Amino acid sequence: MLRIMFVTTAVMLTVSYLVAADVSTENKDSTSFQFKHHNNKEMFETLMDVHEKCPAITTVYRLSENSVEGRPLIVIVFSVHPKIHKPLDPEFKYIANMHGNEVLGRELLLKLADYLCEEYKAGNAEIVKLITNTRIHLMPSMNPDGWQKSTDDGGSNYLVGRNNAAGIDLNRNFPDLDRIVFDNEAYDKNINNHLVHMVDHLSFPIQPETKAVMQLIMTVPFVASANLHGGDLVANYPYDASRYGNVQGEYAKSPDDDTFKWLAMSYATHHADMANPNRVPCRGGDTNFGKEGGITNGAKWYSVRGGMQDFNYLSSNDFEITLELGCDKYTSEDALEHEWEKNKNALINLIWQSHIGVKGQVYNEYTGKPLADAFIKVVNITNGEEMPIFHDVTSVHDGDYYRLLTDGEYRIIASMQGYFPKTEVVVVKNEYHGEAKILNFGLKPDVGVQWYH
Ligand SMILES: *[C@@H]1O[C@H](CO)[C@@H](O)[C@H](O)[C@H]1NC(C)=O
Ligand SMILES: [Zn+2]
Repeated sequence: MLRIMFVTTAVMLTVSYLVAADVSTENKDSTSFQFKHHNNKEMFETLMDVHEKCPAITTVYRLSENSVEGRPLIVIVFSVHPKIHKPLDPEFKYIANMHGNEVLGRELLLKLADYLCEEYKAGNAEIVKLITNTRIHLMPSMNPDGWQKSTDDGGSNYLVGRNNAAGIDLNRNFPDLDRIVFDNEAYDKNINNHLVHMVDHLSFPIQPETKAVMQLIMTVPFVASANLHGGDLVANYPYDASRYGNVQGEYAKSPDDDTFKWLAMSYATHHADMANPNRVPCRGGDTNFGKEGGITNGAKWYSVRGGMQDFNYLSSNDFEITLELGCDKYTSEDALEHEWEKNKNALINLIWQSHIGVKGQVYNEYTGKPLADAFIKVVNITNGEEMPIFHDVTSVHDGDYYRLLTDGEYRIIASMQGYFPKTEVVVVKNEYHGEAKILNFGLKPDVGVQWYH
């Protein structure tokens, strides 16, 4: 049942692009960005202002579902081809405010949108290069209803507004794919990717906000992403769910543990104090994440099932981490600008990480036709040992694939039913803010024995 629902909705997602005319421009004095808590209407207007200022490199769209209370879920995209995926340009996303009372990420993404636009216009070479080679999606709020509730309540409560308007924690509401991969790994480590079709039951009804984001994940071929929270200061990486059922303290390693640690460090080390070993923990008794490089495995901290981070990794080609941006959930307005300064380089550096490793196109060697849904397997041979990484990515619409990898030597195998697999050996040496190494695969059709009769 479920399988049919997801497969069809993934194909049917219609993206409604919004144009500047959708927003009334009456009574607006200026379009310069202000640090403040933007309400839901102002959030939308800010994104449309940015789009008006930078129409050639942005588009704004709404997801397929509104929130429970009927608010639109809005995304702004930056790219030199904002409305389309271009082969070999990786797609990146930030989603903030899925917990409605965790508000810093929402304001940071609004500022980031304005910053990318202004810096692109000003000819900042790094930003021009980033936007020229990457398609970046920013979704400042996944839970506008919760934001409203928390704000109406004064923003000081640890729980009010966390959940959506139906009282559901959206970061526990995704199908639990960790369970599927853990159950399978004892006998087949190859069942480790694109698992949505294996979901046979759900613990909770899927909320419209969750459904909208699931459809986004299944539709846009994201390569890397982060979801932005508050309440602590740490970059958290998969798995979030413990393998053996421990509530706390159990490191749940994913096959891409090294790559995820790299992504988390890419944020922590570019943040003003996330990785500072001398900072104090948020609350007495909390883990001193500063002493651990500002990063943590999710399950080791505490186990979460049905989270968005692991859903991305196990349902799609996307590698997602979770960013806890500060001890406060509802950051005070006068701290927002300083927080932006502290997070700015980290936010940009993480987007660059969608360019690590290898990428390329898979095609039919005889006809040149691109092959979508080919499997890209990786064996780490850095130390002369064969260490398979049991997490395949797949090629997408135009046969393009993206395989994030840390520095090392790898055997990469492209395979697809009906074709002979092909193997290449590659040395990855990621350059700072460079691009992935290109490795294309022309596969020969396996015409089958009948040809020889
Ligand atoms: C491959 O192995 C090397 C050496 O152990 C390690 O440094 C590197 O991070 C590994 N790559 C991945 C993607 O796990
Ligand atoms: Zn949160």
